[in-house]
Amino acid sequence: MYVCICKGITDTHIKALVRDGASDLKSIMKNLGLASQCAKCVKQAKAIIEESSPVNTDALLQPPTTNNVNLNLQMPSTLPLRKSA
Ligand code: FES
Repeated sequence: MYVCICKGITDTHIKALVRDGASDLKSIMKNLGLASQCAKCVKQAKAIIEESSPVNTDALLQPPTTNNVNLNLQMPSTLPLRKSA
C-alpha cells in the first residue's frame, strides 16, 4: 500500500527499514525521502513505524502507575521468636 504518493513509498519500504533497525520517523524520512514534499504521509508512516517496531518504546518510557504495581507487602502473621543471649 502506498503511504507517500509524492515519493512512491509503500508500507513495505518502511517496514523493511524498521526491520533493519530504523526506529523513528526521522531516520525513515532521511533514508526514503518520506514527507519531503506535501508531508501528508507523516501520520500514516508513524503508525506503521510504531506497529512494526519490535519493541514499543513509548510503553517503556511511561512511568509505572499504581494500578499495575503489585508490591505484595503482606507480613507473615507470626514472626519467629529469637532467644536473647
Ligand atoms: S505524500 Fe509524502 S510527501 Fe506527499
